[in-house]
Amino acid sequence: EAGRRRARLLDLNREAARFYYQMLQQKEAEAVAAYLSRRRITRATAVRFGLGASLDEWDALTHAMGKKGYTKTELLAAGLAVQGKNGGIYDKFRNRLMFPVIDVRGDVVAFGGRVIDQSEPKYMNTSETAVYSKRRLLYGLNLAKKTKRPNIILCEGNIDVVMLHQAGFDNAVASMGTALTVEQTRLLSRYTKELVLCYDNDGAGRIATERALQILNNSEFSVRVLQLPRRLNNGEYVKQDADDFIKFQGKDAFERLLSGSENGMEFRMAQVAAKYDLNDDTARVAYSEEISALLSTLSNAVEREVYAVRAAETARISPEAMRSEVQRALKRRL
Ligand code: CTP
Ligand code: MN
Ligand code: MN
Ligand code: MN
Ligand code: MN
Repeated sequence: EAGRRRARLLDLNREAARFYYQMLQQKEAEAVAAYLSRRRITRATAVRFGLGASLDEWDALTHAMGKKGYTKTELLAAGLAVQGKNGGIYDKFRNRLMFPVIDVRGDVVAFGGRVIDQSEPKYMNTSETAVYSKRRLLYGLNLAKKTKRPNIILCEGNIDVVMLHQAGFDNAVASMGTALTVEQTRLLSRYTKELVLCYDNDGAGRIATERALQILNNSEFSVRVLQLPRRLNNGEYVKQDADDFIKFQGKDAFERLLSGSENGMEFRMAQVAAKYDLNDDTARVAYSEEISALLSTLSNAVEREVYAVRAAETARISPEAMRSEVQRALKRRL
């Protein structure tokens, strides 16, 4: 019975994806189509990702799905409709560019919808349902799992994934704005042992990078961090995400960033070093302490040694001193 209900929800989601996809080809959705071309998303890419349009109406989807025999209860359970005041329901997604969220089995399990203007909220996503658990899914993995590239690139958003694939990086996936979860790393480990973190170069992106590196610390993955540079715009440096970078700097430049990206521990050590003025003695001591604490989280003794020597060079102290600080930090952890 639960299995049958699940199957119905998946069928409904697939029908809804088909409906949104068809609407995108209609005159009523020309504003959404125009938005797609403003974002430089080609028709072929839109087809590959099954992108669609929800109409600027209250019940376009609800009505169409009702005609196909889906009940109010099912539309609510799928997160496609919202309960109205007088017992009726209305469409959750309206006047948005629609991204079907497809799992690795190829089932449509959810949707993300982006406004086509400056209004808020910018994105709406399906909340948790019987067939969708946000923490177990990565947007684009249904396609990225087939890549010939050796790694998988983790970025923040739907449009980053779509644009990276369009530029030939068909190994990109997104956690859709939320922090990487342990469940997602388990899912990824079925397809690759090499990850590249490519979050937005704003405050939220840096926090997301640090969290992901903590989760991936001592994991089976080799992890690198692709740092997007800030972009000079009218004499001011502005933040960029993968989509912006591809648009302004092009795919060859992205390929260079990808091959030049440093490994996760190097990245974290550089973040620590950037906080201190290493010409100042007190700062060198504080740096050594913070680095020792970081290195003491490594379970691999060879890695601890390699990075301790590197950190000693940075702080211009003897490797022996750094090693013994790391040992002290290790004991504190036990
Ligand atoms: N997101 C969300 N809800 C929001 C904002 C963001 O779910 N209110 C998720 C979306 O999956 C989005 C991702 O977080 O793709 C990244 O968000 P953000 O970086 O803020 O998007 P922008 O790059 O600013 O916008 P765009 O997607 O138009 O490029
Ligand atoms: Mn933003
Ligand atoms: Mn962002
Ligand atoms: Mn963006
Ligand atoms: Mn972004």
